[in-house]
Amino acid sequence: STTQPRIDIFPSSPISPVSPLLFSGFIEHLGRCIYGGILPSTRTTFPYTPRNPCPPSEFTETPKTLLTPQGFRKDVIEVLRDELGVPMVRWPGGNFVSSYHWEDGVGRREGRRRRMELAWGFEEGNEFGTDEFIEWCREAACEPYICLNMGTGTLAEALHWVEYCNGTGDTYYANLRRANTGRDEPHNVKYWGLGNEVWGPWQVGQQTAPDYAQKARQWAHAIKLIDPSVKLVACGETGLTQWDATVLDALVDKVDLHSVHLYTGFGPRDRTQKEREYGRGVYGPDAAEYALEIARGLINKARVAKQISKPIKIAFDEWGVWDETVGTAENGLEQFYNLADALAMASWLNVFVRQSDLVDIACLAQSINVISPLITSPTGILKQTLYYPLYLFSKYMRGGMAVKVHVDSPTFAGETLPEWISTIKGAPKTLDVSAVLHGKSLRVAVVNRSEEQSATVPIRVAFAQLREGVEVEVHEIWHPDATVRNGWQKEEVAVKMRKEGWKEEWTFKEHSFTLLVVDL
Ligand code: AHR
Repeated sequence: STTQPRIDIFPSSPISPVSPLLFSGFIEHLGRCIYGGILPSTRTTFPYTPRNPCPPSEFTETPKTLLTPQGFRKDVIEVLRDELGVPMVRWPGGNFVSSYHWEDGVGRREGRRRRMELAWGFEEGNEFGTDEFIEWCREAACEPYICLNMGTGTLAEALHWVEYCNGTGDTYYANLRRANTGRDEPHNVKYWGLGNEVWGPWQVGQQTAPDYAQKARQWAHAIKLIDPSVKLVACGETGLTQWDATVLDALVDKVDLHSVHLYTGFGPRDRTQKEREYGRGVYGPDAAEYALEIARGLINKARVAKQISKPIKIAFDEWGVWDETVGTAENGLEQFYNLADALAMASWLNVFVRQSDLVDIACLAQSINVISPLITSPTGILKQTLYYPLYLFSKYMRGGMAVKVHVDSPTFAGETLPEWISTIKGAPKTLDVSAVLHGKSLRVAVVNRSEEQSATVPIRVAFAQLREGVEVEVHEIWHPDATVRNGWQKEEVAVKMRKEGWKEEWTFKEHSFTLLVVDL
């Protein structure tokens, strides 16, 4: 459509502080996430399987100097901790957790059992278990978030895991932890997930919503007897389904957060029309925002029914850009992203900022190698296009106060969201915007999702005396070709920063992401 664009920002209409936990991560025993990203691996890329190993010529050792004393990759820790400031990491899955038995992964590394891994079809050597995860989190300065096995796992096993991590008494599992780690202090794992995607037909141990809800109530009750201070996350679906409604109705008084998983991607491979592919990717996060609007209603309905005054927040504990026809189990879900994917990433983050009164936790799936902004070789890290919007949001938007924004914008006519969402929500706007206030500093994130058209837009900041010419930092991610990727040889997409004076009208390039930083 041809609507005249405009952006109105209302710094005096706060939404909520932007939770630092929106920048959380996720590491799963899958592909080269743990073995390659966290611990070194000699493999450079997929494909490999234990049954189909890479030819020896592709193997390179990671030199000891690139590892921490505990044997973790230093470079990965440094990017996650020092550049992205990842505050919390979810582990061990994902689908993997539904057949994971935590006791296989503690004690002497040499004696650990190799197991068949039922989610992705690999073998699990258990070199990385609970104590290594906690040790890695300490190094990475992030909080651990553990997802429980509600597939093949039992309640007793879950209770033992919580006791192992958090027990401070003279009990068997607390003492086992002391013996294994040589330390008295508990691991203090605050966040625990009650299963992963238990609704999915691909899960080991798929359940119906009423069955899951009943079981999760029992688990929640028992876990809080072991440690009343933990925060429990119920297993939701996409936020807008009957599963979500049933689980919320049953668990609203027993849990602290409700989880939601959604990915955007470019859809099936046979969609050859460039515009369609582009559209499905960059406008996909609008579906996530719609799901959150519905989830908000479902939460409120469940709270009203049980008269619960405690708010339940959303843990969007898997989100990201994933084309399931490219990132497959056979290639370890390794996906090489282009600029359009980075714009999708920026729109995802805009959704979280705008919905920051509801979304408390968001875990990018995943933090390393698996559908990730970061890809490792045995000796280095490739920063994919996705990395740059994440970096900018983490640096400039976290911790600020999200404020209301009104956007008028042309809309996109091509195929984007599922039709039933489009008919309710309307066609997506090409301009996608969020804003935060950090003290006096206003940060405005603008994604121009139009593939071909730049946009010249008046920006008005309500009740602020922003004089023309006041200095603005303009951080821009753009390239003439929206399909360009970063490679080991050449970094095509990164952030360019320039300083400009404030003006009434701003021009945003076609398929670009721009972050403006200005003092009010
Ligand atoms: O992140 C990849 C997979 O996506 C996770 O294992 C699963 O929970 C989801 O379906």
